[in-house]
Amino acid sequence: MKKSFKISNRLYGRASKTIPLATQTFSKSSMQWPLGAAPMFFEKAKGCYVYDVDGNKYIDYLLALLPIILGYKDNDVDRAVKKQINKGVIFSMSHPIEIELAEKLNTIIPYAEMVRFGKNGSDVLSAAIRLARAYTKKDLVLVSGYHGWHDWFIGSTSRNAGVPKEVRRLTKNFKFNDIENLTYNIKKYNNKIAAVVIEPDGYSPPNKNFLKELKKICRKNGILIIFDEIVCGFRTSLGGASEKFNIKPDLGCFGKSLGNGYPISAIVGKKKIMNLMKDVFVSGTYAGETLSMAAALATLNKIEKLNVPEKLSVLGKKLKKLTNRKIRDIELNDYIEFAGNDWWPRLIIKKNNQSFLLHLLRQEFIKNGVFMGSSFNLCLAHSNNDILKNSVSKIEKSLLNVKDILKKKDPQNFLEGCELKSIFSVRG
Ligand SMILES: Cc1ncc(COP(=O)(O)O)c(C=O)c1O
Repeated sequence: MKKSFKISNRLYGRASKTIPLATQTFSKSSMQWPLGAAPMFFEKAKGCYVYDVDGNKYIDYLLALLPIILGYKDNDVDRAVKKQINKGVIFSMSHPIEIELAEKLNTIIPYAEMVRFGKNGSDVLSAAIRLARAYTKKDLVLVSGYHGWHDWFIGSTSRNAGVPKEVRRLTKNFKFNDIENLTYNIKKYNNKIAAVVIEPDGYSPPNKNFLKELKKICRKNGILIIFDEIVCGFRTSLGGASEKFNIKPDLGCFGKSLGNGYPISAIVGKKKIMNLMKDVFVSGTYAGETLSMAAALATLNKIEKLNVPEKLSVLGKKLKKLTNRKIRDIELNDYIEFAGNDWWPRLIIKKNNQSFLLHLLRQEFIKNGVFMGSSFNLCLAHSNNDILKNSVSKIEKSLLNVKDILKKKDPQNFLEGCELKSIFSVRG
């Protein structure tokens, strides 16, 4: 059913005058969502449902770029935040809740011995890189995947405008799950690599033995291992990838799901490295903000109590199976498929014209009341049979429309709204 985006479009025009890109991140911008055929502004959410400013309702499989793990406006989390509001948000000295949360993370994350907090994933990844350089007295960093917007990482991508050449050359890329490529790069940058940064579990799980081999090679070469668990943390398993694959890195970064939407991130790791923060400068006015810490404690307790990672995996597996069945029935399986980890099923576009298909799918999903990017981002509130059935039926209707359009002589003419533009691609 065609939706109206009248208010959304008007707000977009207004926002464009004062906010570059009319939003705070590339991923929420009109580069990724067809302006005119997609809502640009949401105004409220509850559970797994979001409502745009024109009053359209969607089952949300984007989840605000993944901080929502329980559901929007979770009662337990909001109650903990309100209780903390009554005491104050932030203070001139530390608050005991910082210790409580640090101890909780130490208990659940196998390699966490000490903890510091930040607000965004990028904050704590920058802290980890600085610590690794200080510890190893080396400068180069080897990465695969996406690790935030700060100079040290973004300089290594095609979106490197504004990052000095001297900084860009300090970060090198290697292929995840490819030990040969890792070894090649370590040899190539002989003795200069401070750390290897990976998302240990993501769209795809690590190959058998990849993490163990990586650890062996890094140990041999005096290279620290940093796990970027910003997405997989608390989702793949309560204790993250380290718990799931039984392997301990030197440092790890968590964010997103930690606060169920309240802004908090954490760097955790070995005492001997973390304690370098007595000299290495890591600091933030809002790093000790207590509302997000109260939210984090309530979120972690609930994830643990209800075994949320297991529930997300069961749900993802079902969604993958049911949607792939529809895709095959509708004979779109030459074009698309859902694949990868059960806790984070990913939409694979098989044909070359990626951006055309992505645009068409997003446009048709939106028409049918499903808000989805390139994966099923899952939260506890999705795990209900009615929501599952409803989602699959909405996706089926969308796919039937997509099939009809693909059969036309000129499918390009059926794209609605402005054309999408690619940001960059770093996830394999
Ligand atoms: C794997 C990974 N690392 C780091 C980041 C950066 O986190 P933030 O956007 O909170 O700075 C992201 C954000 O999407 C991410 O997915």
